[in-house]
Amino acid sequence: MINKCLFPAAGYGTRFLPATKAVPKEMLPILIKPLLQYAVEEAIASDIYNMSIVTGRGKRAIEDHFDNSFELESQLRGTSKELYLDEIKKVIEHCTFSYIRQRHMKGLGDAILSGEPLIGNEPFAVILADDLCDYVDVNALSEMIKLYEKFQCSIIAIHEIPIEHSNKYGIVSGIPIKNSNDIFQVSDLIEKPDIKKAPSNMAIIGRYILTPDIFDILRKTTPGKNGEIQITDALVSQAKKGKVIAYKFKGKRFDCGTIEGYLNATNYFAKKLGFS
Ligand code: G1P
Repeated sequence: MINKCLFPAAGYGTRFLPATKAVPKEMLPILIKPLLQYAVEEAIASDIYNMSIVTGRGKRAIEDHFDNSFELESQLRGTSKELYLDEIKKVIEHCTFSYIRQRHMKGLGDAILSGEPLIGNEPFAVILADDLCDYVDVNALSEMIKLYEKFQCSIIAIHEIPIEHSNKYGIVSGIPIKNSNDIFQVSDLIEKPDIKKAPSNMAIIGRYILTPDIFDILRKTTPGKNGEIQITDALVSQAKKGKVIAYKFKGKRFDCGTIEGYLNATNYFAKKLGFS
């Protein structure tokens, strides 16, 4: 069973300055809901209720968002505006939130390793909130949990990208598992390779199920791309032992870490939710 979801949320969000000077990038809204709330709701939809959030300095708005706000609630009680708080209150009631701070910005791998005291020795999910996913029937994480139950190893979500974008993502190579065209046995992974070195056009998106041995591997992983400790590099050791499966995500995915992706997500949800 997967009981905990880790949300690395310590990055500076420099691409969104000045908006992210005092507001964590994970709290930027798509319409009226912060990115991190979409991510938490995706975990809940996958039956995960323990949220472990890796934060950093200047991120206290995250803790306040996932907590009761007595003053606001008492102001709105009995008014027509009370329902605006329904969705977030449901989230708060159903989940526990634990926080830990990443002490230095040493990359996604280091952020995940910082979460070890919150996770302990059990398999766990990871969601990168700036990769916003939408789905019709089943969300990516639920599918990945089913795969974890079957294969008992790390599971990563991938999607096909135009090969010229290979230097923006972790890229995987692998072979399809028998009778399936959306599940792959991963043989290798490379973080943000140039187009010439990209082994495929299958890019990692921000959804992972990781087995807890990843923490020891991360401790031994030396800085890679951009001088940072990369989760992609740590996954190579597991892949070499046949312990990484990739799942091709079929829904919509927006890279809300870029202005273009953020804008596309806003337009998409505006249309979907009837705001435009
Ligand atoms: C991270 C990972 C990368 C992955 C991407 C998905 O990169 O390192 O392998 O493809 O998330 O969004 P980042 O976007 O943090 O640079």
